[in-house]
Formats: sequence, structure tokens, C-alpha cells
Amino acid sequence: MENLLLTNIGMLVTPTGCAAKSGAAQGEVQVLRDAWVLIEDGKIAEVGTGRPGQAGNARILDAGGRLVTPGLVDAHTHLIFGGWRQNELALKLRGVPYLDILAQGGGILSTVTATREATEEELAEKAGLALEEMLSFGTTTCEAKSGYGLRLEDELKQLRAIRDLNEKQPIDLVPTFMGGHALPKCFADDREAYIRMVCEEMIPAVAEEKLARFCDVFCETGVFTPEESRKILEAGKKHGLLPKIHADEIDPIGGSQLAGEIGAVSAEHLIVCPTEGIEAMAKGGTVACLLPATSLYLGATFAPARQMVNTGVPVAMATDFNPGSCPCLNMQLVMNLGCLRYRLTPEEVLTAVTLNGAAAIGMADSVGSVEPGKLGDLVIWDAQDLNYICYRMGSNLARTVIKRGRVFERNNIHEN
Ligand code: NIG
Ligand code: FE
Repeated sequence: MENLLLTNIGMLVTPTGCAAKSGAAQGEVQVLRDAWVLIEDGKIAEVGTGRPGQAGNARILDAGGRLVTPGLVDAHTHLIFGGWRQNELALKLRGVPYLDILAQGGGILSTVTATREATEEELAEKAGLALEEMLSFGTTTCEAKSGYGLRLEDELKQLRAIRDLNEKQPIDLVPTFMGGHALPKCFADDREAYIRMVCEEMIPAVAEEKLARFCDVFCETGVFTPEESRKILEAGKKHGLLPKIHADEIDPIGGSQLAGEIGAVSAEHLIVCPTEGIEAMAKGGTVACLLPATSLYLGATFAPARQMVNTGVPVAMATDFNPGSCPCLNMQLVMNLGCLRYRLTPEEVLTAVTLNGAAAIGMADSVGSVEPGKLGDLVIWDAQDLNYICYRMGSNLARTVIKRGRVFERNNIHEN
């Protein structure tokens, strides 16, 4: 593998360390001016300022005095699915609520039909296009959930597509099993039987094939109750799958409290998270993974991010890319919304989309900051400073994306 010496960095901004940052520390980032980074064998070997030492056999890449940050970590996506759901836009505009569409057999359940109809190869090919676009926006690590199969063979098919994609394209993927994403139509009269199937058949099979690191569940009115969610997450834990939970997205039914109680690695959405939930997460060491583009898309309110930071809950932010509530791949938009709607500072936002995102998916020891020992994942921005990328909106400011030391120019068209 070619080594890389990135020189002439006007400003290198990065959080530091291998664990999530909370409270005031979320906004404390390291700023190095006139910096350089040496990447060897895909990993960061040295970071310095001023004149770099000997490049040895490394290729030299001049950052042109621009801003460099860690590669972005998209810690929450529903990457693998068949079809799209543009038909729901008209329903939304007529005011039909998200959960009503689902209750009528649409929403997630219509994507389940399309996903069951697709082959593993078709799913991987479609998701591969999404990943190319994500890389062009600066994402270098991405979590990917199943949850549109809702029966053993189709959940495995989704997770195998993720495994294959992990080999075939540059972004590192972290797989999550989400058989508890919705109740399939044919189990409408027997919820318990489906939950048993998730716990006793799907989870063991997923664990046996080592297809996922996490287990997630949609704890929501009309989907899974906190008690049912607990059962699924406990079964996952027993098989080595770490718990994550979609909590308080639409109704606060106790998901965030449950997250804290069972020590979930992360809780997702948290749009209507109550104070008790925030306190429980602080106590349980749970990362709040916030998805502001989903709030925007659903026309919902925005999660109480400032209260979370102030209470000592580490805040991460991600896209939630999926065909229903957030068909968006762009982490730069997420950063804009983090400032504009959560009122987080650009520094807090950077930590949310790098180190804290990494912690939300168990990757903080290898990505999320620009420090020796971590993967050579960086973005050279068409910007001079961090404020600029949080301030500009609607453009792609990622000029060059570096993944494990490989260089991708804008739009991922030219690797060179
Ligand atoms: O995180 N809330 C549940 N799951 C997704 C939406 C999935 C869909 O609508 O297809 C979410 O928003
Ligand atoms: Fe989600």
C-alpha cells in the first residue's frame, strides 16, 4: 500500500482520544495550523506542524492551505433496501402522519415487500451507489442496519449484502441487526410469536454467522413496546450483539429510560426525549445519536441536544439514511442542522459527526480523530476553517476524501 504525506494543511481540526466526549469536552477540539499528516499502511503514523520530516517513499499531497478534519462517521443508516417511497411524499403533504402510513401497511412494510423481492446482489449494487455518494460527501465509516427483511432469510440477505459491500468498496461498514424494525403483516395477530422468532431464531443465526455487531429495535407507539424492546435487546446481548435503540422518535414511551437502564451503546432519534430519559442515558453511558435531517423531513421538532450536552450525554449525529423518514446521504447537511436547529457550536458538531459517531458504533479506538494509530481517514475541505463548512449549505465542500490512505477526489470519480 502506498504511503501518503499530506502537507500544507492550513488548519487541522480534530477531537482527540478514543472515547466519546460529553459536556464541555464535546466542544474542545485540537486545532493545528500549518500542519502535516503522514499515513503509512493505511494508518496515521505521525501528525506535526511546520516542515514535515522525510517523506521516505510516501506520495506527497498538498492540501493547499485548506481545512482538514477526520473523515465523517455516519453512525446510523438503513443502507440496504429495495425500492424507494416517493409516493409517500403526496401523503405527507396531505398531512397523513408517518405512523398512520405504517399502520395502513405502507411505510416500512412497503419497503419490506420490495426488499424481499430483491436479490442480495441487487441490494448490494443499489447500496453501493449510495456509498459512493456518501464518500463524495466526506463519510468514511458508516453503520448499516438490516430490518427490511423481517424474516430470517431476508434479514440474513441484507446483512450478507453489507458484508460483501464491506469488501468491495472503501467505506468501512459496521453492521446492525434490526429484525425488530416493524411487525410483519402476517404476525399482526400474534406479536409474541414474531418477537420469539427474532429472539430465538434470527438473533442466534445472525450471531452464528457473525453478521452483525449490534442489535437495534424500533421502540415506538404501534411498533414495539419498551418491554418487547427489552426482550429483543437482552436476547441480542446474550449472543454478543450490543444494544442500540430507536427511542422517543415520535412518542416518548420509555425508550431512552430503557436505553440507560440496559446500558445501550447508543439511543437514536430522541426527538421527544424527556429529562428522565436524558438522565438515564447519562447514568448508563449511552451515546445520544441524533438525526436532525429526519426531524426536518418529518416536519417534527428537534431533539433537546443542548440539554443532553449539558447533562453529560455524549451527542453524536448521523443521517438516518432510509427510503421513508430521511432519504438523505449528506452528513454536511446534518452538520448545518446541528448548528442551526440544535444550536450546537461547530466544534461540538464536529465531535458529534466524528469521534462521538465512532463511539456510537464501537469504533472510537480506530476512527473519529486524526491521531497516530487511527485509520488514515481524512477530508480536505474547500474551506479555510470549521465555521465555513457549518455555515455554507447545499454545496458539497468535501474536496478530497482520504480513506485508509487512499485518495478520492471530489464526487469519488477520480481515485488517484
Ligand atoms: O429511523 N424509525 C424507524 N426507522 C427509520 C425509518 C424507516 C422507514 O421509514 O423506512 C428511522 O426513521
Ligand atoms: Fe433509523
